[in-house]
Amino acid sequence: MKKILVVYFTQSGQMKDIVHALCMNIEGQAEIDYAPITLAQPYPFPWVAYDTFFDAMPESVLGITFPVQPMPELLEKDYDLVILGYQPWYLSPSIPFNSFLQSEWAKVLSGKPVITVIGCRNMWLNAQEKVKQRLIELNASLVGNIALDDKNPNITSTLTIVRWMLKGQKEATEKAPEAGVAQKDIQDTARFGPTILDWLRKGQQDDLQTQLLAQGAIQLRPNLIVMEGNGARLFPNWANNARKLGLPGDPARQKVLKKFKVTLFISIFILSPLSGGLAKLKTLLQKKKITEDLAYFKQTKYIKGKIGKA
Ligand SMILES: Cc1cc2nc3c(=O)[nH]c(=O)nc-3n(C[C@H](O)[C@H](O)[C@H](O)COP(=O)(O)O)c2cc1C
Repeated sequence: MKKILVVYFTQSGQMKDIVHALCMNIEGQAEIDYAPITLAQPYPFPWVAYDTFFDAMPESVLGITFPVQPMPELLEKDYDLVILGYQPWYLSPSIPFNSFLQSEWAKVLSGKPVITVIGCRNMWLNAQEKVKQRLIELNASLVGNIALDDKNPNITSTLTIVRWMLKGQKEATEKAPEAGVAQKDIQDTARFGPTILDWLRKGQQDDLQTQLLAQGAIQLRPNLIVMEGNGARLFPNWANNARKLGLPGDPARQKVLKKFKVTLFISIFILSPLSGGLAKLKTLLQKKKITEDLAYFKQTKYIKGKIGKA
């Protein structure tokens, strides 16, 4: 029997549901171990207040790690495949997931084929570039990526994610749809399991990502590539400025974080219809580049500096 390790982080339980759905159709045909990542000092969920939510920005963007609960059991078996379930925070891998990737337990990835599974609002490209880079350092080989996002328009998904993150309500209300990845999309992730197991059994010969893409593993919206690139360029300045004023929880950095929050909301709610239009125009004017970018972000290779360039 093939041995598969599934390492994941989740706050709300969404990523747990995704990885379990992914493996649903191959349970019993492979030995599957699930390993949730837990920070020694977890972040609250729901986050309740904007201040705590935005206080996680600098360390997310700068890739600063915190201790994770030990996971020595990961190093006890010789796995055939590792599946990593994670989410972006502020266009970077979430702090708990990044903390795992930089921890000694990430040695389990050395020499292994790895599939990443992302559950996000709609911006994951910059985070995945950082993950690809780290996987290379860990001597792991990224063979597949499945990205699940919120298919609602950008403004709608921002409104519903605020409700979800601050109050814990993912379900639809009378006025607004459910937040995050739709339940149907989560359940449909089950279609990838047999493809992955077949690929493993056949000696990993074919290109797995091509097969996953044929099953709809990634649907990219070109204007979001342009918009995420803008954010990826600007976020590190905000993060450095806040970090200079204090460590997590220090009220001294709240001034910068509040300005960041206001700027972010203005750019999403007021400017995004405009910048979305400009981004669409850019995708039309730079058709060749956008087509190349779309192809690049759908596959698993890493080329430095692909996101955030003007
Ligand atoms: C602090 C924070 C920042 C986030 N930033 C992003 C982001 O940059 N892009 C995005 O698509 N989703 C973002 N999200 C949504 C998450 O990627 C994820 O979909 C959501 O938190 C649910 O994940 P869970 O499985 O941990 O509950 C963010 C969530 C949090 C808590």
